[in-house]
Amino acid sequence: MSSRTSDVLVIGGGIIGLVTAWRAAQRGLTTAVVDPEPGGGAARVAAGMLAAVTELHYGEETLLALNLESARRYPGFAAELSELTGHDLGYRRCGTLAVALDADDRAHLRELHALQQRSGLESEWLSGRDCRRLEPMLAPGVRGGLRVDGDHQIDPRRLATALVAACEHAGVVFHRTWAERLDVVRERAAGVTTADGTELRAEQVVLAGGSMSGRLAGVPDALLPPVRPVKGQVLRLAVPRRFAPFLSRTVRAVVRGSQVYLVPRENGELVVGATTEELGWDTTVTAGGVYELLRDAHELIPGLTELPLTETRAGLRPGSPDNAPLLGPSGLDGLLLATGHYRNGVLLTPVTGDVLAHALATGDLPEEARPFTPQRFTAPPPERPARLMEQSA
Ligand code: GLY
Repeated sequence: MSSRTSDVLVIGGGIIGLVTAWRAAQRGLTTAVVDPEPGGGAARVAAGMLAAVTELHYGEETLLALNLESARRYPGFAAELSELTGHDLGYRRCGTLAVALDADDRAHLRELHALQQRSGLESEWLSGRDCRRLEPMLAPGVRGGLRVDGDHQIDPRRLATALVAACEHAGVVFHRTWAERLDVVRERAAGVTTADGTELRAEQVVLAGGSMSGRLAGVPDALLPPVRPVKGQVLRLAVPRRFAPFLSRTVRAVVRGSQVYLVPRENGELVVGATTEELGWDTTVTAGGVYELLRDAHELIPGLTELPLTETRAGLRPGSPDNAPLLGPSGLDGLLLATGHYRNGVLLTPVTGDVLAHALATGDLPEEARPFTPQRFTAPPPERPARLMEQSA
């Protein structure tokens, strides 16, 4: 079978694979991407919140540092990408308002505020009245909220399209087919065999297959990334001109324990997300999922039911055991990983491109990515002292 060679072959043309390929090509590496539909994947569904502060969770402090670093790089990244491609990315520095609808939500938000303050993050507690002053469409019952002026948004579909254009501009070659199998030659990743039997050869291979990264044939079992699909259903509505401005920033809440967020785009689109469902590879949009999102969003913004519902869609987040990405050498020579970004794929796009390209060009993983090496899931547990072993035997 014909065989084509490059310095770098990226498996997966979602935003993570594309940004890796673009940045690698900018460093002078000949780069190819294998994906039947570059620019597809979870980014076609995602709302595009850049929510390092409002999506902070207990136990995710290490991830927070990476999220903040990527948020810091976003303005320069977005400016470079849109200047190069001429594409408007819908990058909107609009801030976020997280609100509480009842006493439980309020207690939850107070806890989040305390955690944000302990983590040195900027957020301001507002009364319900002040929340409604900022966003008059909010329900009268809103009990209070957190104003986070540093959590912004980008349109992930536009981001994906611009990254395809940037890759083309940088000379990245696209193989529009599936990678069937990783080929390993003398204990080193050597490339892939595609669905039509073509062998694509490369000095280094990056597995950036999103939720599918954990099931590529040919990757040694012990090194397969522990990535699983986590379903999210998302709705898109349209805000007619006569209703504008409907919302001026992202508004979100936890309603009966479920996250709901409303992300208003400058072009009048309003994205409402998202369910979090552990259902394997299922991407069905369900009546229940749509009902719950609309019910919760309606409690927040009653006027929402007036808007045309233009799209319902489900996607699969690439979940990892600690909700953080896997970045860098896989443990098999020549194979690197860029996957497992879970809720933060859009936010982590700039930093992922930078650290992977650096690792590909120099063999060195930058400091900020070291806590996220795949080895944290594959390294054998530290040896236990002999005396302890005897006692527990
Ligand atoms: N980051 C938003 C979500 O994953 O639903």
